[in-house]
Amino acid sequence: MCGIVGFVGARQAAPILLDGLSRLEYRGYDSAGVAVVTPQGEIDLRKAKGRLQVLNDMVHGGADLDGCVGIGHTRWATHGVPNSTNSHPHMSEDGRFAVIHNGIIENYAEIKEYLIRQGIHFRSETDTEVVAQLLEFYYNKCHDFFRSVGRVLRRIKGAYALGILCADCPDRMIAARKDTPLLLGFGDGENFIASDVTALLPYTRDVVYMDDGETAILTREGIEVFDPLQQPIEKEHHHIDWDVSAAEKGGYPHFMLKEIFEQPDALSRAISPRIRDGRVVLDDMKLTAEQIRSFDRIYIVACGSSYHVGMVGKYNLEHLTRRNVEVCLASEFRYSDPIVDARSLVIVISQSGETLDTLAALREAKARGAYILAIVNVVGSSVAREADDTLYTFAGPEIAVATTKAYSTQLAVLNLIGLAFGETLGAVDPTEYHEAVTELERLPELARQVLSRCDDIQEYAAANFNHSSVFYIGRNLDYALGLEGSLKMKEISYIHSESYASGELKHGTISLIEDGTLVVALGTCGRLFDKMISNVIEVKARGAEVLALTTESRRDAMARVASTVLTVPDTIDLLLPNLGVIPLQLYAYYVALQRGCDIDKPRNLAKSVTVE
Ligand code: G6P
Repeated sequence: MCGIVGFVGARQAAPILLDGLSRLEYRGYDSAGVAVVTPQGEIDLRKAKGRLQVLNDMVHGGADLDGCVGIGHTRWATHGVPNSTNSHPHMSEDGRFAVIHNGIIENYAEIKEYLIRQGIHFRSETDTEVVAQLLEFYYNKCHDFFRSVGRVLRRIKGAYALGILCADCPDRMIAARKDTPLLLGFGDGENFIASDVTALLPYTRDVVYMDDGETAILTREGIEVFDPLQQPIEKEHHHIDWDVSAAEKGGYPHFMLKEIFEQPDALSRAISPRIRDGRVVLDDMKLTAEQIRSFDRIYIVACGSSYHVGMVGKYNLEHLTRRNVEVCLASEFRYSDPIVDARSLVIVISQSGETLDTLAALREAKARGAYILAIVNVVGSSVAREADDTLYTFAGPEIAVATTKAYSTQLAVLNLIGLAFGETLGAVDPTEYHEAVTELERLPELARQVLSRCDDIQEYAAANFNHSSVFYIGRNLDYALGLEGSLKMKEISYIHSESYASGELKHGTISLIEDGTLVVALGTCGRLFDKMISNVIEVKARGAEVLALTTESRRDAMARVASTVLTVPDTIDLLLPNLGVIPLQLYAYYVALQRGCDIDKPRNLAKSVTVE
């Protein structure tokens, strides 16, 4: 997500920090900041909203900041809109500590409340500021930088990569990591931290990857690394021999593949802060139980893949809430004279938050009195600002035009909404609710298992990339999943592909099936598995080559009829599209790779469509 750089040495830190941050610009950000410890033992902090160039101009390329120890950050907003107050570094109230942070502090609200009661004043809306303030709070008791960091790390929950300065210790910086990447760079009489090796390539290629729970103290002379019990440890050094463009992609050949593999972490960020003690807790949503009960109509409005999330969401929300849910393409909704009033809830889904059709539909619904609940990735985007309520997906910046991790996290958030509404409305069976919450918590791990089998898909794609047409078929949730699988295929490989509800095949499409036609048969949902088997037999009988997707427990049954079977781990039906989409993303990716397509920037497509 955000970018982190830190420097300790004999040279002026700020120009190096700004240069390092410029190498992380490709990751996407909305504001930037740097802080150094001055020779007078004070922290000099500068930050600015917008491009890094704004900050660079403000501090004359770093020349204005006097100090050889410093931290820099490019922020992609998660908690609090993008502005200079919310950007990093964050300082403690007395200015003794400065902190940069990637990740999410899940229990920040509770710590913030506690510190406010202790008389501490907060400046920003961020989760990160609690780290700086808590450090000061503990330091005032023990006057020991390292011990204070240890106490803070024991108190906070969530994911973090942290770079910390203390004005009283002008020769050092402390770094800490849990569930968010952070690496240490070893130079000659100077040392570094970075979230991403790209930032360090001009300075050093000798790096150590920090592991979860570790902290490090960096000085000019060296770097000491400590385990979670703060005992010193030896770490293995790595020599980086990638070029810059490979490094930007973290070693992956394309951003799309990198983002596909980021899905388990993105899912964790979307889900884990919203489950507490076995219950879904959406405290980032303003809607009250009374309002939820008052809606008589629920619409989901979106475009592209976000619309496909809505298609899955319709099945799940209707099942969990027993309310009627209508899914609409934003471009159609706005001109359809929709039946929307103050008793309507309109759920708007958008990765970018800037898609013009989606924004126009939002405005149309709002003008008719509906309550707008948005599911958005980009914090502070137009959809997020104009909605009555916004739940962020925390997927991190998505660079590839074809969405992957944004789709997955949108789906997870919609399921969280379904469960929360279902509970409020008393519509969901308590046993099912608890099972669903448990399975949602396992989802990142299950997604990791699916990704671990990507070689099978690559192998299949190597032999099956030349079909002129592909048909995705499925029923119910598998039909909705097929819509996304088919879109991925056509977007990046330029192969004609269509998605059909299996039961509809017999009403026309089956006439297109002939010898060798590729049919991707989606049979993950248990309830309708037998019906899917019949559909597979139907298309096989007309000569189709069938690539089937099902769950592990049904592999054998599917293998009896399909030509090739891919599987995902078993889980509740509700969550299967979240797993099933991964092999479909990978298949589209490997087919496009075989065909030599420009995967990250497919022809004629844009990441954010701000025209009608
Ligand atoms: C474009 C992108 C799609 C995306 C759609 C909606 O067409 O290429 O990947 O699904 O816009 O974008 P949004 O940002 O509103 O989710």
